[in-house]
Amino acid sequence: MKKITVLTGAGISAESGISTFRDQNGLWENHDIMEVASYEGWLKKPALVLDFYNQRRRQLPKVHPNAAHKLLSELEKKHEVQIVTQNVDDLHERAGSKNIIHLHGELIKAKCSIKDKDIIEIGYKDIQIGDFSKNGHQLRPHIVWFGEMVPKIEEAIPHFENADMIIIIGTSLNVYPAAGLTQYAQTSTPIYLIDPDPEVVIPQSNVTHFSLSATEGMKKIMELL
Ligand code: OAD
Repeated sequence: MKKITVLTGAGISAESGISTFRDQNGLWENHDIMEVASYEGWLKKPALVLDFYNQRRRQLPKVHPNAAHKLLSELEKKHEVQIVTQNVDDLHERAGSKNIIHLHGELIKAKCSIKDKDIIEIGYKDIQIGDFSKNGHQLRPHIVWFGEMVPKIEEAIPHFENADMIIIIGTSLNVYPAAGLTQYAQTSTPIYLIDPDPEVVIPQSNVTHFSLSATEGMKKIMELL
């Protein structure tokens, strides 16, 4: 039984039909990132921000975990698997993975826009202007916006320090601190990078890049183990 830590990004959900952020026609090509994903944007146009995330949330019941999500969940039968995801969808959970850290928040949760720690489950329901937390403040999506702290990073780091094997799937590694997590790995720990884009690079020793889709890459990993 190996300790396997997996970092996932938008690319693992691409085959389920969820748009990535930085690929051609990705979300950040069609939306102004600072308008919809920053605290400043929220203060200026809260209804626009709510609409952006309401649309993302409404998509969830229409999509399904793909083979890559399912193979990761299957890995748990034989190994100790920790998923650390940058994704805000619920596809790892729905595929059956048990240990999941959501670094950038979750669409199915909302929080108080003033008291950050008041987090509630909302499922697939929209958040509207006038929906209040129990403290009487406007609810906002439970999403880490640009410029905000990533509180779950502390929980994620030991899983990279202590892993026997690391798998990185479908992330352009543009966003820190998530992109820096592999630096916590022991130099002897093998890192497998699954991303069809050959230009995604982890500048460390011991990295094997499979330039494949998440599903094809995960099939290779299953053969290796
Ligand atoms: P990106 O959109 O930056 O990168 C997606 C990666 O997925 C790219 O490297 C693609 O090559 C790869 N990809 C595309 N199709 C794939 C497939 N079928 N199988 C495997 N890989 C595929 O998304 P992230 O790196 O996840 O943060 O973005 C990181 C963060 O930036 C997101 O969590 C989000 C965004 O701004 C917040 O909103 C806080």
